[in-house]
Amino acid sequence: MLLHVRNVLTAAEVAGARGVLAAAPWGEGRLTAGEQAALAKHNHQLPEACEAAQQLQQVVLRGLERNALFFSATLPKQISPPLFNRYGGAADRFDDHVDSAVRYLRNGAGRVRTDISCTLFLTEPEDYEGGELVINDVSGEKRVKLPAGDMVIYPGTSVHRVEPVTRGYRTASFFWIQSMVRSDEQRRLLFDMDAHLRSLRGTVGETQPAVVGLTGTYHNLLRLWADV
Ligand code: NI
Repeated sequence: MLLHVRNVLTAAEVAGARGVLAAAPWGEGRLTAGEQAALAKHNHQLPEACEAAQQLQQVVLRGLERNALFFSATLPKQISPPLFNRYGGAADRFDDHVDSAVRYLRNGAGRVRTDISCTLFLTEPEDYEGGELVINDVSGEKRVKLPAGDMVIYPGTSVHRVEPVTRGYRTASFFWIQSMVRSDEQRRLLFDMDAHLRSLRGTVGETQPAVVGLTGTYHNLLRLWADV
C-alpha cells in the first residue's frame, strides 16, 4: 500500500530541522547502501552518529508517535532510526534500486526487516526542480513529491528511484518499519477496517453493539496476524 501521511511534522519543526540540516556535516550517501544500490546512489547523507542526526531523529520519532494514521497504516513493531539525505548539485539522484530486506542497526543494536519504506519530505516542492520519488507499483509508476512535513509510506518490496534534482536541494528523512503484520495485504485490510470503524463511531457512536462487535473483530484479526 502506498499512502500519503500529512503533517507528520509541524511547520515549526520543519523549519527547525532545516536549520540544523543547513549546518550539518553531510557525507557520502553510498556508505550505507548495499553493493548494488551503492552503484545507483548519488546523494549526500548525514552520518548516523553525528549530533545533528541524533537530534533530528527524536523530532521525527515524536512526529510519528502522535500520528494515528501512521500507526493504523503501519502497525509498527520496530522503526529503524531515521536517516537524512540531501539531493542537489553533483550528488543529485538515486537510480532504480530495491532496499535491502534487513537493516542492521548501528553498534549491533539489532535488525529491522524492511516491510515498509518511508520518506518524510523536509523541503517545500517549489524550492527545487526534479527530485520526485518514483515508485514502481503493479499498476505502474507513482511519482511522489510532497509538501515539507508530509510523508509517503510504500512497500519495501518496490523498485524505486529519486529523479535528478536540477535546481536547488531536496532534503528528506528516510527510514524503514518492521510491522507487527508482515503481509501488506493483511495490513491493508486492517487499515481499511480501522478507517471504516472510525467513520462509524463518528456517525452512530461508540456504544452501538455492532460497533463494539466490529471493533472486537478488528482486534481479533490483529491478534491472529500480529507478531509482537
Ligand atoms: Ni531506497
